Amino acid sequence: MLDLTNFAKEKLKKVAKEKKLRILKNFSEKEDKLIYKKQNLISFAHNDYFGLAKHDLVKKSAIRSINQYGVGAKSSRLVCANNVIYQKLENNIARLKKTDQAVVFGSGYMAAIGVISSLLKKDDLVVADKLIHACLLDAVKLSGAKLLRFKHNDYKYCENILQQKRRKYQNCLIVSETIFSMDGDLANLEILKHLTKKYQSWLLTDDAHGLAIVKYQDNSDYIKNNYIQLGTLSKGVGSDGGYVAASSPLCDYIISQARSLIYTTALPYAVIAAANQALELLLENNQLQQKLQNNIQLFCKEMTFKSQISPIFKIIIPSIDELEIKHQKLVAKGFYVSMIRPPTSPTARLRISLSAAHTEQEIKALAQALKYI
Ligand SMILES: Cc1ncc(COP(=O)(O)O)c(C=O)c1O
Repeated sequence: MLDLTNFAKEKLKKVAKEKKLRILKNFSEKEDKLIYKKQNLISFAHNDYFGLAKHDLVKKSAIRSINQYGVGAKSSRLVCANNVIYQKLENNIARLKKTDQAVVFGSGYMAAIGVISSLLKKDDLVVADKLIHACLLDAVKLSGAKLLRFKHNDYKYCENILQQKRRKYQNCLIVSETIFSMDGDLANLEILKHLTKKYQSWLLTDDAHGLAIVKYQDNSDYIKNNYIQLGTLSKGVGSDGGYVAASSPLCDYIISQARSLIYTTALPYAVIAAANQALELLLENNQLQQKLQNNIQLFCKEMTFKSQISPIFKIIIPSIDELEIKHQKLVAKGFYVSMIRPPTSPTARLRISLSAAHTEQEIKALAQALKYI
């Protein structure tokens, strides 16, 4: 047996050879700029789609909360940290999602782990889109349920699996994202709901990147009773934490069962207060949503892309070496975008995320820079 440090060294060599080495880079921020290697960059890599992380009212509510309650929440929610601000936030999430109730977790990852492992066991089936997020895959693994995946957004394929396998399992959960995190395309929620009912299944959608962008419908009774909407407060809401929104009995059951809710300290109240203020801004009117859509349409026009409603764009790059070169060229021109490589996505790509906080000039300048890298 190798000693632990040599074991790690060997493993590191292997990941480096496979070009899968991940390194934490050092960043700072000044006003609206991202600082990397002493350069002031415009970020198109953050997921703060409505620019709420730095919104004045959102910052003020976090500061007020720190002044009132201090920094840490000091216990789990079930002990004595279920501050009233949690209830306000959960009511607002349920209002937006048109559900009875919602439950806030420490992160979207923890929400996925908590809800899926509370509901499923070894005799159950999960039928999932091939591109769902890693946290959902980890959650299914933890639950012990059988996982079958359909080709991305291929609902015929999904139905074939359901036709052939559904009856062999006790419970069946269909899983998809609403807006896919690395591709930026949308699931067809109507078809997913139709298949859910037809095959007497349950549905879970991960709305991490779709919050206040996808439309929330009034659902039929079957869907209301069999639907879990999962998401995060760390992207469009600009704060931190995750949630599930669903029927009241389901939420109450999750509170009793989800180990990633029960056995962890509550989020700081400042984070909850900020998320609640941000959500209220999104619920109040459509201004930020409209600004984001204007920016998306402008970028589509500048890039001669087909119009879309999702703020995520992917530019596929054939090799990882080329990806790194193009990324460096963009940094030299003053822009920071994400570099995504396998296994996070099937192919190497630049991932561009737009925000309502970007100016028209910034978007036009990025489109121009992308033409010359
Ligand atoms: C699709 C998707 N689901 C879930 C998560 C997890 O959310 P969080 O960052 O709050 O853990 C993420 C974010 O990384 C995501 O992109």
